[in-house]
Amino acid sequence: MPVPDRSDLPVMYPSRYEQLVQAVVDYAIYMLDPSGRVVSWNAGAERIKGYKADEVIGQHFSLFFTEHDCVQNRPKRLLQQALEKGVAQDEGWRMRKDGTQFWALAALDVVRDEHGEIIGLAKVTRDITDRRDSAMQLDAMRAQLFQAQKLEALGQLTGGLAHDFNNLLTIIISSARLALDSQDSKRVPRLLEHILDAGQRGTQLTQQLLSFARHKQLNVAQISPASLIDSTRGLIEHALPHHIVVEEHIQPDLPLIEVDAGQLQMVLLNLVFNARDAIGAHGRISLEVGCGEIAGEIDDLHGEFVHFNVRDTGQGIDPQVLPRIFEPFFTTKSFGKGTGLGLSQVYGFAKQSNGAIHVSSTPGEGTCMSLYLPTWHPVTAADTMGNSDG
Ligand SMILES: Nc1ncnc2c1ncn2[C@@H]1O[C@H](COP(=O)(O)OP(=O)(O)OP(=O)(O)O)[C@@H](O)[C@H]1O
Ligand SMILES: [Mg+2]
Repeated sequence: MPVPDRSDLPVMYPSRYEQLVQAVVDYAIYMLDPSGRVVSWNAGAERIKGYKADEVIGQHFSLFFTEHDCVQNRPKRLLQQALEKGVAQDEGWRMRKDGTQFWALAALDVVRDEHGEIIGLAKVTRDITDRRDSAMQLDAMRAQLFQAQKLEALGQLTGGLAHDFNNLLTIIISSARLALDSQDSKRVPRLLEHILDAGQRGTQLTQQLLSFARHKQLNVAQISPASLIDSTRGLIEHALPHHIVVEEHIQPDLPLIEVDAGQLQMVLLNLVFNARDAIGAHGRISLEVGCGEIAGEIDDLHGEFVHFNVRDTGQGIDPQVLPRIFEPFFTTKSFGKGTGLGLSQVYGFAKQSNGAIHVSSTPGEGTCMSLYLPTWHPVTAADTMGNSDG
């Protein structure tokens, strides 16, 4: 029997699409009518939400929302947003048929007929509970790591601090003794001033230590880079031996950045510790803070960034080692000297803060670590509207 020529027949795309949509099991893909009632249901929707097609078709999609979200009118607002803007996205808890919940990433897109009339909405939902859990675990681990590193840094600081406190106490005790023994009425007030001054310096030191050691949750705030350096200077000085000279070059009138100040302090200390360890007998560390536009040349970032450069005149980094320095637990230091976690933490912080860390190094000459952090811009009403679209 001759095979009929079917080349003039239209290709049956709709049914192919239907087959395709039906075959997808990782995404719930279904249609809603403009009032929010379910009109189609795929295998993924059945797998993720637990309902069979005949159980949900005709039902309002608020069925999948938690009671709390329903009270807050979340389904209605999503639908309205999609109808008005053509698209709406949402992330949050959704209910399965058996009453359990999953964390969903959902998109709602308006579907129009050939005349532009809205005939319904396409709804695509993904169960990203696992992804959310691992992101939260990662955050918790990062927080723990920061805490551990902070303790280690504190350990490194205590040596220097004990020495400083000792000096201050020596001033206080010897001035007090001299004042007690002194017959000179003009000398006593001067000695008392020395005591007061040493006491105040001691208080400053403890304040710095306390603010550094205190456990803080990710505490993002708008901070001025210069004031952060002011509050870190004391810590840096105590972490460095006297033969290392520290220079500061801080551009005036730097814009604000929005980061966790405690973590940024920790990151700068880590970079300074590395610079210290790279410097042998004598050397210089310069801390440069500035600001400028980046157009993709650093980690594909665009926009205005504040940079913190920690530049040292140390031994530099071997080109063979360079690609590995940000790996957790990678260290070239001897056992007990380094854990190899400093730079992986710097890297994590930079990424988490939407910035970057960049290294340039010449063996035998030195290294420059540059941390880029985006400058803070006040959010305008227009930004908020733009974001709710996407
Ligand atoms: N400024 C620098 N100069 C030379 N080498 C550096 C510098 N910064 C980092 N490195 C190299 O990168 C490696 C990894 O640094 P990282 O800070 O992650 O770990 P660490 O300093 O060895 O240990 P930790 O910071 O946990 O005490 C270092 O062991 C060192 O080889
Ligand atoms: Mg280190």
